Amino acid sequence: MKFKGQHIISMTGFSRERIDHILNTAEKMEAIARGEKRSELLEGKILAVLFFEPSTRTRMSFETSILRLGGNVLNLGSVDASSISKGETLADTIRVVDGYADAVVLRHPKEGAAQLASEFSRVPILNAGDGAGHHPTQTLLDLYTIKRESYLEGLKIALAGDLKYGRTVHSLCYALSLYGAQITLISPKELCMPDEIINDIVARGAKIIEKDSIEDAIDDVDVLYMTRIQKERFPDPSEYHKVASRLKITVESLKNVKEGMKIMHPLPRVDEIDAKVDITPHACYFKQAFYGVPIRMALLGLVMGAIE
Ligand code: CP
Repeated sequence: MKFKGQHIISMTGFSRERIDHILNTAEKMEAIARGEKRSELLEGKILAVLFFEPSTRTRMSFETSILRLGGNVLNLGSVDASSISKGETLADTIRVVDGYADAVVLRHPKEGAAQLASEFSRVPILNAGDGAGHHPTQTLLDLYTIKRESYLEGLKIALAGDLKYGRTVHSLCYALSLYGAQITLISPKELCMPDEIINDIVARGAKIIEKDSIEDAIDDVDVLYMTRIQKERFPDPSEYHKVASRLKITVESLKNVKEGMKIMHPLPRVDEIDAKVDITPHACYFKQAFYGVPIRMALLGLVMGAIE
């Protein structure tokens, strides 16, 4: 299974065998991710980090991952302080940065930006989110969280929130279809999952159910995956205000759920999960954010060719 030198752009082309290999590799990285074991696996390697949109988890967990493995980070920093503010194109930026680093992590507001970057880069591009497109490393850490905290095969999962613009749920659906998941979709009708994605994932083996409210689904699922309604993705802000705050969970919503039911969220949240839910055994979102470290360590080790 070849990973060395490969770009990580979306989940659509990932086989189950490749996903399982990354998840198993991440499991071996956990002690290093927690700082309990030292590693020099990526000593001398440099990871370039280019974020054209805000981020806390993806950027910092990639930085932690390379540092925990003995490598170094080269962060573009604020886009305004770079030559992009003088009009330099993404293609030219990538052609320059690939001479400074062994892999590039890119977040960009335009769908397709990571694919474009990969066409100009001599080193692996890791897509850290491209507009409403894909966020494959988030999906891999979501799958890892499900594997560690619940189970993957034949999972019953509900996805709630912004299913139209939410790149994390798009990528996750593709991946879960490989494991025969039953996926319940819950969103305001203005933000429903695009038909072409539903058709694709049904063809790949997923069972799809559509519901209007979280209450109609929550008692039957193993995982509830909440997402934020993303204000920044709405072309018209008044459309955002029509749907904001429509889907929420509170402690009361959890009265009849399965004992081991887990609530996940890629974060950041706004008001869709009440803070009182955080102290219930169902809350899994902060652990999920940590699991980004072993997953991204595994990916960096694999694409940089330090492990197979
Ligand atoms: N989940 C996620 O992508 O978070 P950030 O936007 O903080 O990176």
